[in-house]
Amino acid sequence: MWDGNGNRYLDFSGSAAVNFIGHGVGEIVDAMAEQARQLEFVHSSQFTTRVAEEFAAELLDFAGDHFRGGAVYFTSGGSESVESALKLARQYQVEIGERNRHQILSRQQSYHGSTLGALSVSGNRKRREIYLPMVREFEHVGIPYCYRCAFDCTDSCYNCGQQYAAELEHAIEAAKGTAAPSNVAGFIFEPMSGATLGAVTPPPGYLQAIAEICRRQGVLLIADEVMTGMGRTGRNFAGEHFSLGREGIAPDILVTAKGLSSGYAPLGAVIARREIVDAIAEGSGAFLHGFTYNAHPISVAAGRAVLRRIRALDLVHAADSQSERTAGSSVKIALESLRELDAVGDVRGLGLLWGVEFVADKGTKAPFSPEKNFAGLVGQACLRRGLLVYPMQGCVDGIAGDHLLVAPPAVITAEQIGWAVEQMRAAVFEASAQAR
Ligand SMILES: Cc1ncc(COP(=O)(O)O)c(C=O)c1O
Repeated sequence: MWDGNGNRYLDFSGSAAVNFIGHGVGEIVDAMAEQARQLEFVHSSQFTTRVAEEFAAELLDFAGDHFRGGAVYFTSGGSESVESALKLARQYQVEIGERNRHQILSRQQSYHGSTLGALSVSGNRKRREIYLPMVREFEHVGIPYCYRCAFDCTDSCYNCGQQYAAELEHAIEAAKGTAAPSNVAGFIFEPMSGATLGAVTPPPGYLQAIAEICRRQGVLLIADEVMTGMGRTGRNFAGEHFSLGREGIAPDILVTAKGLSSGYAPLGAVIARREIVDAIAEGSGAFLHGFTYNAHPISVAAGRAVLRRIRALDLVHAADSQSERTAGSSVKIALESLRELDAVGDVRGLGLLWGVEFVADKGTKAPFSPEKNFAGLVGQACLRRGLLVYPMQGCVDGIAGDHLLVAPPAVITAEQIGWAVEQMRAAVFEASAQAR
């Protein structure tokens, strides 16, 4: 990318983990222009479009077998999709006669969007703080974060994962009050943490336990894959790494955006399983919800062209860090080399979604004081060197803790990755000198 002054940048964060297929791809622009020429807009209450129907079918197929017979609801981005998913969960419960169920549980240190409903289920302290008096809140349960595990574990957090999952069951039970069954309609979670904790992966067995609890308790499982979906982690959806794709423990509702259109147009999607769609179709007959720009033809045309390109170039494989000689594995190897730096406490992630966490003291894992804005300093030093990364603060407790998110497009070359990580290394040295 070039800015207005002609400075050149390598996009090592896909903007904000958005761009997955690379910038400036002519065939996406052509698909959008072609759609605009045929039909620029139609309201979804009056017509559906061929492009939306075709893309929905292709997306359902991409989402896996357990979504067969389900449906896709297109929006203009992640927050709108999360709002839609929360309301869909509520409506489903009403349709099946569970009118008590209206609460949505979620996790601390999570992020699900900026609108008030999405903010209420988010745990990102900074992004929520001043709006708290305006949001209706339900329980936020703990989130496993192995680098800073709250339990004294020796088994890669297997048992802690079960303890964190048990917190969800307690929260569901607590929400029963005098009413049985529970008041909880759904549980929303990021299968792999996005910006807030910086690509933290769940411990083995944790997500399966969560899924089983939700199933047993009649609570819908809502996977927020706004950042991690559409191949970003080297699987079509990140939940697949953790057996969430398997029948029986699959999410009921899958939310995605960002990579869905790779940034070429505003687009998000809610993917719902057949049971949910059928309950509404056979009940009241319609989802009581809507935005003017649902399934906007030009955005949907962009998304369809992006998905076709992902498939044609096998970009999900390119993103896979567990396969050899892929962009994903090159990023993993290169970033791991940063562990030797004094200021780097942890490097974690999967595919093309990585977090690098900075510490003031490696032995104690003490973070930098937040006023130093260490991640911001590293981000600025990267920018001066022509590298775009995504700096964040608050991974320790919502305020302290610094990390960078790395999420390049899957077309990045090994040479570019090598150069990018050398700039990061130099930027960490510069920031360390500044922070001293
Ligand atoms: C996991 C997750 N959910 C939801 C959102 C909100 O998406 P948007 O910014 O497109 O509204 C984001 C954005 O970063 C996200 O990472």
